[in-house]
Amino acid sequence: MYRTHTCGELRLKDAGKTVTLAGWVQRTRDLGGMTFVDLRDRFGITQLSFNTERDRALCDKANALGREFVVQAIGTVKERESKNRNIPTGEVELIVRELKVLNEARTPPFTIEEETDGGDELRMKYRYLDLRRSPVRRNMELRHRMAIEVRNYLSEQHFLEVETPVLIKSTPEGARDFVVPSRMNQGEFYALPQSPQTFKQLLMVAGFDRYFQIVKCFRDEDLRADRQPEFTQIDCEMAFVDRDDILDTFEGMAKHLFRSILGEEFKEPFQRMPFDEAMRDYGCDKPDLRFGMKFHELNDLAQSKDFKVFNDAELVVGINAEGCAGWSRKQTDALIDFVKRPQIGATGIVFVRWTSDGVKSTVDKFFSAEDLQQWAERFGMKEGDLLCIMAGPAERTRKQLSELRLHMGDLLELRDPNVFKPLWVVDFPLLEKDDESGRWHAMHHPFTSPIPDHAHSLESDPGSVKANAYDLVINGTEIGGGSIRIHDRAMQEAMFRVLGFTDEEARYKFGFLLDAFEYGAPPHGGAAFGFDRWVSLFGGRSDIREFIAFPKNNAGRDVMIDAPSRIDEIQLKELGIDVKS
Ligand code: AMO
Repeated sequence: MYRTHTCGELRLKDAGKTVTLAGWVQRTRDLGGMTFVDLRDRFGITQLSFNTERDRALCDKANALGREFVVQAIGTVKERESKNRNIPTGEVELIVRELKVLNEARTPPFTIEEETDGGDELRMKYRYLDLRRSPVRRNMELRHRMAIEVRNYLSEQHFLEVETPVLIKSTPEGARDFVVPSRMNQGEFYALPQSPQTFKQLLMVAGFDRYFQIVKCFRDEDLRADRQPEFTQIDCEMAFVDRDDILDTFEGMAKHLFRSILGEEFKEPFQRMPFDEAMRDYGCDKPDLRFGMKFHELNDLAQSKDFKVFNDAELVVGINAEGCAGWSRKQTDALIDFVKRPQIGATGIVFVRWTSDGVKSTVDKFFSAEDLQQWAERFGMKEGDLLCIMAGPAERTRKQLSELRLHMGDLLELRDPNVFKPLWVVDFPLLEKDDESGRWHAMHHPFTSPIPDHAHSLESDPGSVKANAYDLVINGTEIGGGSIRIHDRAMQEAMFRVLGFTDEEARYKFGFLLDAFEYGAPPHGGAAFGFDRWVSLFGGRSDIREFIAFPKNNAGRDVMIDAPSRIDEIQLKELGIDVKS
């Protein structure tokens, strides 16, 4: 037997017991005569104690241990004289009588401590060492607990977990596919699923009624802190439901997770906000509601004077930063620099301050005190506040002001990671037009149905049609999304036509689904939630890599195993791939 207990288990009540522990050497302290070794495993740390008077040779052996050596120790549990109240095992130590080195270790390339000195790339290259660190391990434990709670909740609600295949045909979710060449069918390729979308719909046709899966999805797209090329969804589908049934069911799941994982109780229903309202009030479809700073438009009040920048703009819109009237020139200049960065690309900000000297703006030349007073009223401005106003093309200016709003939220520390503001964004447009090609794209995916009243305009006026789709947004992050699906062949064919597919293309790509719709497809809908994102939200960090055991870096590489990598010529030949062409 390698061990009788883990390193996190022993307490005062175990004093006097003879036990065997096994684990990694966290550190060794040689106090001259006494040596202490912190022995660590996944469950905790226990202090091993050695004494030259008791056994000099054993003490020498302990002093020779290096960091991360794997050892086994047999000894007696004893109450500690100087107790460590910071760890659960801190009241006891093990008086060691036998010590065995199970494996030596090279000095790790970074410290395996709460805070490490290892940079990102190094931590990823030696991820198995990074995973030994307690913050990373805690993230994995959180992930595990959340997966269990998801399964408990959905199983309780009669959802059935079904595995869908990974070697499939393209399922469009707006990214590029990862493809896998087929040896047995040369010149042909599988695509890895961007999501199990079509399969879960087929499971509804199969009568499974309620499906879920915690499932890997693959998308070849540019990476960011909240995006990985392979990531995990909580993927769900339900038959015989309308939008509200779905929102209620998954609001229930969200509340269950908040309760069981964070001890947070949400009594009120989550807010439901139409897409148009989100864009108007926050300039984005995933508003962070932890703070206010709603947009207010000023076109009617600000375009009647000689200020060309406002007069020429499609939209004049601003936010009120409460209590910021006293910001220095340097601070407001920094805001201008922020919005002028190429990633945001704005031209500037007009500021209006309300100080004890009254309301003053950076465009006083053009606007009277009465004008500014009217603006102030629109924003509900008080003495001490600062308005930030931007102008330009409507859509772009909203996006830019939204970035500024989030930046102000950060600067004013209004985005507390321990506060959660969930909402459903509903009534998305069904389609969006690609300016370059002039083609319509599904905003969600091509299987999303229009809201019932709009279905008749699908082909005649596609831009006006709203989708029966919804997103779950928490603290400015899109945690999940879904829709009520099209379940009728004619409607699905019409949708493909609007998206510019010929009938042949539609049949080639999705004939199986169109056929299935002719064999008794029930009305159905569903949603999928980004599991990595949800775990990282609960873990209080924005980088989802911290919550994935073996993530890819920003170039899509696994630097530990060094993938992707070349494959040899024989393998390529077998696959019928000619690398030279
Ligand atoms: P969607 O494409 O919105 O919907 O994906 C659902 C959720 O998955 C998460 N997500 C990601 N997480 C990490 N890395 C990525 N690259 C990534 N891409 C998406 C997001 C997102 O909200 N089949 C539909 C769902 C449905 O209609 O039922 C779908 O996949 O949190």
